[in-house]
Amino acid sequence: MEISILNLKKYYSEKLILDIEDLKIEKGKITGLIGPNGSGKTTLLKILSGLDKDFSGIIKYDGKSLDRNIYKKMTLVNQKPYLFKRKVYENIEYPLKVRGIKKDIGKEEVRKIMERFEIKELRDKKGHLLSGGESQKVSLARALVFNPNLLLLDEPTSNIDPESIKIMEREILRFNEENKGTVLIVTHNIEQSERLCHNIIYLKSGKVGY
Ligand SMILES: Nc1ncnc2c1ncn2[C@@H]1O[C@H](COP(=O)(O)OP(=O)(O)OP(=O)(O)O)[C@@H](O)[C@H]1O
Ligand SMILES: [Mg+2]
Repeated sequence: MEISILNLKKYYSEKLILDIEDLKIEKGKITGLIGPNGSGKTTLLKILSGLDKDFSGIIKYDGKSLDRNIYKKMTLVNQKPYLFKRKVYENIEYPLKVRGIKKDIGKEEVRKIMERFEIKELRDKKGHLLSGGESQKVSLARALVFNPNLLLLDEPTSNIDPESIKIMEREILRFNEENKGTVLIVTHNIEQSERLCHNIIYLKSGKVGY
């Protein structure tokens, strides 16, 4: 999915937090979003995902305004992921359920993604009792299970051990290569952006490029 942003302005109280004149996120590519703390990265992801509607400007997804259909094809993985007080298995199954995927097909998809992420041992644990890193892994698995067109990732590997980072990066790359999924990933890790990203966007005080 291509995203184009025109004259985006976002304020918190009187303060201008985002000020983006003209920006495109390329379809089928992995784009890195880099910038200091407080530069507006999370705010931008929340706006793009439709969570925050309080902004001015125009955002188009493949040339169209956000609607239910587009909304169903994208997902945001939060900086601090929120999982339901249900089993990990049910958390990952959820996006398939709400999209009306048949139970037996869904079951197989959940099994596959848990295998790829090497998190089978977490299957019956309660989502809200997981460690920070475990939650991030489960959240990425939950995001990828329904093959979205657009994946928005907010520092997805910030609490993750090196072995698990490899797994998560491998799965992000696989998603992009196999499904031609568009990815926008916030990271503070320059090496990670070099490993993963085709393009980089720098954000500073809410503006692009410096
Ligand atoms: N709900 C809110 N109300 C008021 N100000 C907010 C709110 N959320 C964020 N801000 C402010 O907006 C600015 C951008 O915040 P944002 O979370 O987008 O930064 P970020 O680039 O994601 O930073 P980090 O790298 O620390 O995650 C910050 O100055 C922050 O204090
Ligand atoms: Mg942030």
